[in-house]
Amino acid sequence: MAAYEYETHTYDAIVVGAGGAGLRATLGLAEQGLRTACITKVFPTRSHTVAAQGGIAASLGNMGPDHWQWHMYDTVKGSDWLGDTDAMEYLAREAPKAVYELEHYGVPFSRNEDGEIYQRPFGGHTTEFGEGPPVQRTCAAADRTGHAILHTLYGQSVKQQAEFYIEYFAMDLIMSDDGVCQGVVAWKLDDGTFHVFNAKTVVLATGGYGRAYFSATSAHTCTGDGGGMVARQGLPLQDMEFVQFHPTGIYGAGCLITEGARGEGGYLTNSEGERFMERYAPTYKDLASRDVVSRCMTMEIREGRGVGPQGDHIHLHLNHLPKETLDLRLPGISESARIFAGVDLTKEPIPVLPTVHYNMGGIPTNYWGEVLRPTKDDPDAIVPGLMAVGEAGCASVHGANRLGSNSLIDLVVFGRAAAIKAGEVVDPNSPNPTLNQKSVDAAFDRFDGLRHAEGDIGTAELRLEMQQAMQADAAVFRTDKTLAEGVEKVQKIADNMPNVKVTDKTLVWNSDLMETLELTNLMPNAVATIVAAEARKESRGAHAHEDYPDRDDENWRKHSLVWFKGDNKAAMTYRGVHLNPLTSHNEGGIDMDKIAPKARVY
Ligand code: FUM
Repeated sequence: MAAYEYETHTYDAIVVGAGGAGLRATLGLAEQGLRTACITKVFPTRSHTVAAQGGIAASLGNMGPDHWQWHMYDTVKGSDWLGDTDAMEYLAREAPKAVYELEHYGVPFSRNEDGEIYQRPFGGHTTEFGEGPPVQRTCAAADRTGHAILHTLYGQSVKQQAEFYIEYFAMDLIMSDDGVCQGVVAWKLDDGTFHVFNAKTVVLATGGYGRAYFSATSAHTCTGDGGGMVARQGLPLQDMEFVQFHPTGIYGAGCLITEGARGEGGYLTNSEGERFMERYAPTYKDLASRDVVSRCMTMEIREGRGVGPQGDHIHLHLNHLPKETLDLRLPGISESARIFAGVDLTKEPIPVLPTVHYNMGGIPTNYWGEVLRPTKDDPDAIVPGLMAVGEAGCASVHGANRLGSNSLIDLVVFGRAAAIKAGEVVDPNSPNPTLNQKSVDAAFDRFDGLRHAEGDIGTAELRLEMQQAMQADAAVFRTDKTLAEGVEKVQKIADNMPNVKVTDKTLVWNSDLMETLELTNLMPNAVATIVAAEARKESRGAHAHEDYPDRDDENWRKHSLVWFKGDNKAAMTYRGVHLNPLTSHNEGGIDMDKIAPKARVY
């Protein structure tokens, strides 16, 4: 057994991660008087939410008519009928409240002429249950909405006396023998000390795992740490085959050009100068949903109509827009285009390419954020003491494809929901659990094994192999052949994890060891993605399978679950989609006929 000294900290609630969901949960917990700590591997305002540009969806109706039921319909359709109906209703209904709360906390939203929160169009957001024109539903703070939200939530959390453990890396969960989560073990990166956090509830808000791919809009910190931690405890990951490619990552650099650019009037062209989206999506054109636009761009390139010397990307035009619009609404991307593409967007188009952006799958939860451990008898059985929110979780509101600006609203609605639920189930006057020492020791043993790993492949090399395999085989378009090859490749790479070599054995600012720990988290996420993708014999949302081009609701309207038994070996089961709403139509809920499955056209 590895002998490491540690300090023990005791709280009612621990939140791991300080992005939008983590901070909203932290704030909600602290506001209720629960002793709350937030553990984060980066300074809170450097969490990946800071990079969110275009906005946050809510049917405020500030720019024209809107209704939560239209938002719900668009989310159901966007999910390609894989989202859970109760969770999608909760999201759409609670969204306006959650945004007004943000406004009152101090988020500096842009304003319309009446002084109300400014809202812009985004892909897949419509009126009249998809029969009307695009709606302006995406609330924006210029094109720095995530930045504005993150800074506000951090300030408010500090004001509410939440405690922050900054630049602490959460190594593993502490679980009792009967499956209750009791806390986490963490490594303080700047001084090499260790910390055991004992909590009555743990909220995982660790973000996505975009860095399982070679080219992603996600920060280098997006390493699926929560997914890795739950997978190591024998808990499943859900719907991992659904990976979103954002249509407009800057060609080469991969950084994001917000969909708000098309919301403000930007459009895509091919090498013939054609606005090709008019052909594929005659009604909503460049504002069709992301999976659709990414596929159309890929088809244009494949058919020889890509731009550039290699014909391998597409042009995004904003040069026709008034300079005042660019300055007022899109200042951030004007700068990104100049720095990362060398383009003055008032004069030239931006070279763009679909780029990995978001993971629809994650840790399965109900709409309160409680983590699920589905059994045969109870597909909705919960793991006591454990919650997951934001991109780390899968509630599931995005199903097979997320609409743009439904991520920021997911973060705050479900961060808030988790805090509400924890307020109900956590008794501040009850004693904290007695920690399972075996589980604490196991975390240190794993850490020590990696610290002293003396294999023959470096972390960066192994990670690159994984990223290249995922980029090639779990791509926008997939086939039986590419997926079978992908499973073999990724499994072989994962099997090589015990041969990793860590050169730096010290404990202070050891990025070699930290990146190795992160790789042990990325790996189960990558394996789960390719295994679940290979198994799904249909096309749905972001899973475009060329051998099975149609959606198959009879056989495949179900959530996939990937379980690990150790050593990154995956097994699969499935679980039904929640088809019932929270509120019946008679009581003011949506007319279920409106959201019955149908062909998904834009
Ligand atoms: O395009 C964007 O601004 C990204 C938004 C989102 O992913 O929701």
